[in-house]
Amino acid sequence: MIVARTRTSLHEARARLRGPVGAVPTMGALHAGHLALLRAARRREHSVIATLFVNQTQFNDPSDYAAYPRDEAADLAGFETSGVDLVFAPSVEEMYPDGFGTSIDPGPIGADLEGARRPGHFAGVATVVAKLFNLTRPTRAYLGQKDWQQTRVIDRMVQDLNLPTDLVIVPTVRDADGLALSSRNVRLSAEQRQAALSLSRGLSLAHDAWDDDERSPQALADLVKATVQAEPLATLGYAEVRHALTLEPIAAAEPPLVIAVAAEIGGVGLIDNVVLGNGLLDEIAP
Ligand code: PAJ
Repeated sequence: MIVARTRTSLHEARARLRGPVGAVPTMGALHAGHLALLRAARRREHSVIATLFVNQTQFNDPSDYAAYPRDEAADLAGFETSGVDLVFAPSVEEMYPDGFGTSIDPGPIGADLEGARRPGHFAGVATVVAKLFNLTRPTRAYLGQKDWQQTRVIDRMVQDLNLPTDLVIVPTVRDADGLALSSRNVRLSAEQRQAALSLSRGLSLAHDAWDDDERSPQALADLVKATVQAEPLATLGYAEVRHALTLEPIAAAEPPLVIAVAAEIGGVGLIDNVVLGNGLLDEIAP
């Protein structure tokens, strides 16, 4: 496994990789969710590039950036055992040299839900992902369902800017109790972690209601809201039923749809979702 820290060394190592090439962008603090993406890429591609960069421009809250877990040695070990060929782990100066000024505004798809909760977040994501795609030139990029709106923002950008990369969305990996894995979970106390289960519990109640033919987006969203709001340690951000691809409000809960929820627990922002629809997620189980 080669670790490139500069654009020049990445370029040299990338030129020696045989295609098809899969890319897995990460901010490190690897958990089983990241490993599922790496596994999906390893299975399908000839070569796999992982990127490791905690991207300051997508953190609207400086204290969240400061508190973001970092453990490069463990991350490199995780990439190595996942069969990654090339890791791009640049410094902040390498990604954002003096004079850097361009930003990609993903438009309406990044404006509400997480975009409203975290102003500027998706411009930061879109800009860094465009840079990472240009630097690594992947055939396919592997993204997690957990950040559903992020997948829609990147999909929109790939289409709008004619980027030559296909996206593969890997289903959310959860702990045995249902909590969606997130690098931020390590910041939860045992009690807060218990409260965090209200997100996946609310989603699964809504999913059950949908299975029982509930088709009112409001009624489904209200089930999620009530579950999170019943948890004293949780502050609900939103619970919404939207069109899975456009993220626009829908009149009836028919697939493709996403039920998305966000909450803050002990100062930690958590999100989760359920996606209903055929062919939206990587079919191969992680
Ligand atoms: P990060 O939070 O490190 O996540 C890297 C990738 O892992 C993303 O595609 C994310 O959706 C996926 N992921 C996270 N938790 C997951 C889970 N429980 N199951 C499945 N996949 C999961 O997302 C980012 O980094 C950044 O925004 C990035 C795209 C790297 C741009 O900076």
